[in-house]
Amino acid sequence: MKQVMNTKKAIVAGGAGFIGSHLCDRLIKEGYSVLCIDNLYTGYIGNIQHLLDNTNFSYVRHDVTDPMSYDNVSLIFNLACPASPVHYQKDAIYTTKTAVLGTLNLLELAKANHCPILQASTSEVYGDPFVHPQTENYYGNVNPIGIRSCYDEGKRCAESLCMDYHRQYGIPVKIVRIFNTYGPNMAEDDGRVVSNFITQALQGIPLTVYGDGMQTRSFQYIDDLIRGILLMAQTPDKFTGPVNLGNPEEYTLKELAEKILRLTNSPSTLEYHPFLQDDPCQRRPDISLAKKMLGWQPKILVEEGLQKTIIYFKNKISKV
Ligand SMILES: NC(=O)c1ccc[n+]([C@@H]2O[C@H](COP(=O)([O-])OP(=O)(O)OC[C@H]3O[C@@H](n4cnc5c(N)ncnc54)[C@H](O)[C@@H]3O)[C@@H](O)[C@H]2O)c1
Repeated sequence: MKQVMNTKKAIVAGGAGFIGSHLCDRLIKEGYSVLCIDNLYTGYIGNIQHLLDNTNFSYVRHDVTDPMSYDNVSLIFNLACPASPVHYQKDAIYTTKTAVLGTLNLLELAKANHCPILQASTSEVYGDPFVHPQTENYYGNVNPIGIRSCYDEGKRCAESLCMDYHRQYGIPVKIVRIFNTYGPNMAEDDGRVVSNFITQALQGIPLTVYGDGMQTRSFQYIDDLIRGILLMAQTPDKFTGPVNLGNPEEYTLKELAEKILRLTNSPSTLEYHPFLQDDPCQRRPDISLAKKMLGWQPKILVEEGLQKTIIYFKNKISKV
């Protein structure tokens, strides 16, 4: 039986995933006792293996679409949702259920404990944006019936639920809209552009570029995101956001591919495939609000973050 040494209990739903596992690490360092709730739909026990013996850490395998009941919770982070198109399109109805019912169940848990809840929303709520860079007061341009809608609309509905729990029950909710994030613990098979390019470059096989590669993205390193999430969690109860968290440096996918080829010293070439349906052409956060309210901006240069991620994937591939 584990002895919990600390009174501040944080729940991280989706804690065995890429972002969640880094958040669990950081919360433990900050002195929280952490309960990680995850059904391993896209996460890996390997991401939290090193925490399993920690007296301040517990893990429960649970699907957030089913209700939960826990006491003495100080803070909830909702990250439970498949995040990459490959994963969220595999079972689109389940993605909507997770995004909507999962958030509803976690909001009920926040209500029962009267504690703050931070919702991991996404830049996808802006869809294929007409406003560039994206500010939080832009309502977005989302296709409600496309193959990405389960995720985009699921996350939009989740934001709306958060705000209704705030208005109806006074629950302190914190919404962060996360832009493309990369780093160690990303799954190599989930089709996200950074992990795709790095693993292809390391294996010396062609890098898959959809469309002409001129579509832009901004890439933030995981440590910057986790710092932003924790700063947001510490804001006064009345501050709900949404707040954009992302790196405003914008690159075309072709530029990113070329950077990765250089950093990995890879002989790979670029292989162009047709555009993906509803894939946004441009994506860059306006982070003025995060600067003003959280005193936050990314610190890690893309080359530095990519180097760390390349080392992670090199180790992972060499163990296979
Ligand atoms: N990584 C990014 O660039 C990014 C960008 C925008 C938003 N986000 C959001 O951040 C959160 C975490 O993303 P990630 O990149 O770490 O993805 P991930 O797939 O690595 O992590 C998601 C975690 O949630 C778990 N999960 C999924 N459905 C669940 C369910 N029904 N019940 C319990 N657990 C469930 C998965 O097993 C996984 O461990 C997601 O909500 C995602 O929408 C991520």
